[in-house]
Amino acid sequence: MLRRLPEGRGRWLARARLIASVLVLLLASAARAVDPATFACEDKGIDALRKFADTRIAYLKRCWRAQIGGATVGVGVVDADAVEGERLMAASNLVLIPGAGGVGRAVFEQLRAQDVPVRFMVRRQDERTAELKELGAEVVVGDLTRPETVAAALQGAARMFFAMAVSPDHLLAATVVASVAKDYGKLEALVDLSQMTVSQMTATSTEESHQQRLHWLAEQVLNWSGLPVVHVRPTVFLDTPLFTTMLARSIQENGTIALPFGTGRTSPVAVEDVARVVATVLRDPAPHIGHVYELTGPHSVDMTELAAAFSRALDRPLSYVDVPLDRWRAGLSRMGLPPHTEQHVATMAQLHRANRYDRTADGVERVTGSPPRSIEAFVAARRNFYLG
Ligand SMILES: NC(=O)c1ccc[n+]([C@@H]2O[C@H](COP(=O)([O-])OP(=O)(O)OC[C@H]3O[C@@H](n4cnc5c(N)ncnc54)[C@H](OP(=O)(O)O)[C@@H]3O)[C@@H](O)[C@H]2O)c1
Repeated sequence: MLRRLPEGRGRWLARARLIASVLVLLLASAARAVDPATFACEDKGIDALRKFADTRIAYLKRCWRAQIGGATVGVGVVDADAVEGERLMAASNLVLIPGAGGVGRAVFEQLRAQDVPVRFMVRRQDERTAELKELGAEVVVGDLTRPETVAAALQGAARMFFAMAVSPDHLLAATVVASVAKDYGKLEALVDLSQMTVSQMTATSTEESHQQRLHWLAEQVLNWSGLPVVHVRPTVFLDTPLFTTMLARSIQENGTIALPFGTGRTSPVAVEDVARVVATVLRDPAPHIGHVYELTGPHSVDMTELAAAFSRALDRPLSYVDVPLDRWRAGLSRMGLPPHTEQHVATMAQLHRANRYDRTADGVERVTGSPPRSIEAFVAARRNFYLG
């Protein structure tokens, strides 16, 4: 049904609105024909506008508002097609990250700083996901062991970080991701968070933990999938409880570094450095596809040297106490960890004692161009945490 124009003053107002709309449309067409350099929105920050420009129309609307609000501005133009192209590129590098915590969270910080869009797939919404949304991430609910949720989360993503907490479901999750991503067919990179111990394993070796075996098997599955995979194999994290909460306790209780590592050496790497590597690969995956990156800290040290690094960072004398493995394991059992995790941590201690963590690799510097941080720098940045 046709609506009639109102009578009297209302009618004039309606006409004025109509004329204004036509003028705005004419301005829009004019805007597209003017030299990009003169565009008035520039002072609002093109990058900021790009971020918010969901469509070209929305983009231009914002610019008109800037022009009209800012009285003096002549009609300028942004090369709207170029902006649209940028926007599409931004969408085409969307990265899917499972879980709101751990390494994935640190990877997000790196990607966010470079304006790479990120979608998290989380098992539940909570205060962490609220914060992620505030910071500009998309958040969807899903689970790596449930293919239909992974398939839904992948829609529109071009890159994925495959990482999850230590879990007996690791191989299931890797197989789900490989099969769903293969069906999806649009991933240009799948970055797998593995473990450096995998580098020392064979198909039949038995000294490693169940978790380490699952990583070894998951790498096989991902390789067989034919997907564009990059394996990132860090050694033990500096951020693990072994070097953080457990040592903070022994430092505060009796000024010791109490660990069951005997004379074994180790080269722990900071999660932040692992995240730098992963983010570098996710941002521009092409040169990395098919590579395996082994990541360690800058040096391999024994526990006496590690205690010396902690001493320097915290500016107090600390000495290493070699805790007998059985006694240490009994303490570990009292922590109430899930059996899979407990077996993994106990095996890590055993392998440290057997000097299996005495290794160095240049992956961090090779990929990111800057070296990994030292134990001393890591501890110095957390002085209050260690000293209580
Ligand atoms: N710690 C080390 O020294 C070390 C060294 C080398 C390699 N790694 C490997 O690094 C991985 C652990 O990384 P991280 O420290 O980042 O782990 P994390 O912080 O313990 O967990 C990361 C995320 O995984 C999510 N997650 C767990 N199960 C999931 C599922 N079924 N579906 C979706 N998300 C799931 C968790 O979600 P919720 O928040 O919901 O729980 C969590 O946010 C392990 O594979 C480990 O073997 C560790």
